[in-house]
Amino acid sequence: MKKIVALAHVMLAGLSACVVSPSHREHAPLDEQRVSAFADTINGKAVKLFTLRNKSGMAVEITNYGATLVSIHVPDKEGQVENVLLGYDDIKGYYTGKSYFGCVVGRYANRIAHATFKLDGKEYHLPQNDGMNSLHGGLNSIDKQVWDARIMNDAIRLTTVMKNGDNGYPGNVKLTVVYSLRSDNSLVIDYSATTDQSTVLNISNHAYFNLSGDPSNTILDHEIKINADAFTTVDSTLIPTGEIKKVAGTAFDFLSFKKIGKDIDQPDQQLIFGKGYDHNFVLNARSETIAAVEVMDKNSGRKMEVYTTQPGVQFYTGNFLNGSEKGRSVAYEQRTGFCLETQQFPDAPNQPQFPSTVLKPGETWKSQTIYRFSTSK
Ligand code: BGC
Repeated sequence: MKKIVALAHVMLAGLSACVVSPSHREHAPLDEQRVSAFADTINGKAVKLFTLRNKSGMAVEITNYGATLVSIHVPDKEGQVENVLLGYDDIKGYYTGKSYFGCVVGRYANRIAHATFKLDGKEYHLPQNDGMNSLHGGLNSIDKQVWDARIMNDAIRLTTVMKNGDNGYPGNVKLTVVYSLRSDNSLVIDYSATTDQSTVLNISNHAYFNLSGDPSNTILDHEIKINADAFTTVDSTLIPTGEIKKVAGTAFDFLSFKKIGKDIDQPDQQLIFGKGYDHNFVLNARSETIAAVEVMDKNSGRKMEVYTTQPGVQFYTGNFLNGSEKGRSVAYEQRTGFCLETQQFPDAPNQPQFPSTVLKPGETWKSQTIYRFSTSK
């Protein structure tokens, strides 16, 4: 079995020293000590670290705890391979972590106002874990669960069940997330879900990127282009007001490449509410071929393109990081990572003018997001 073969690599000291078949190499760990730092058992379920590799020098570490992206190692313009994700050094960091590093968030990613919504005439109450609102599915949600994992050739398939009544939401929802790594340095995330009762659903990944490879740098010099003519404005609790505002002429205009830091401290009410960017951009295209977002770090020469079938993306500039969480001997300070959480719109269950997030029995919800890495000199 591939899983057993992959784990057997824990025993091997160095990848270069061993003779392995291509499928073995694809899952060989980056470092055997890391594998043990991420090995645990919770309620009889094994927590493990998996590695996807391709022939272009990219490696992605994933744990089935929270279906979490632990690291993404990609080359810079000189060919130096470094980790461009924020994360913790061991699995315990993920148990207690509060910043949602790299995990899959749901059942409703982002916020639901006053932690309540109505569906088919019935009112549902959720945990208030963000002031009065509900954030990222509530407490002990899918980001804090051990998922079932299956290794495939160049992919890891993770599944979990969100039970009826879990965090106040209706319906047993079966959720599958497949991470696959392509030879062109694309990490592809395929999501699918079914339910046995009408429910609302918004699933995203919460990876924080720092393309410099060194998270002691802020991301303010990264340049970003977001293919969105508009964004959803928020109130002081970061709940959408319902307005879809044009970005033209505002600090939110990223239609051409602009440094993240250029306008971030402008006295703009929206930026003050978010302590920086923490907003849902309304994407112009939902496509595998037209980038939703492009980000460049000119120093390292790394570039990331994001493609998605989702209607929105939360551009979050790590405003609430405050140095209290650490990894790689670095305290993650404010704005040392950015997230591009592809998603449905926040609070859509309470805002009928937004695209519907209702999932009904018999339907399969699917979405795909691709993070593609490249370099330029
Ligand atoms: C939200 C932020 C929140 C962060 C938590 C983001 O998706 O938009 O407001 O602080 O998640 O890590």
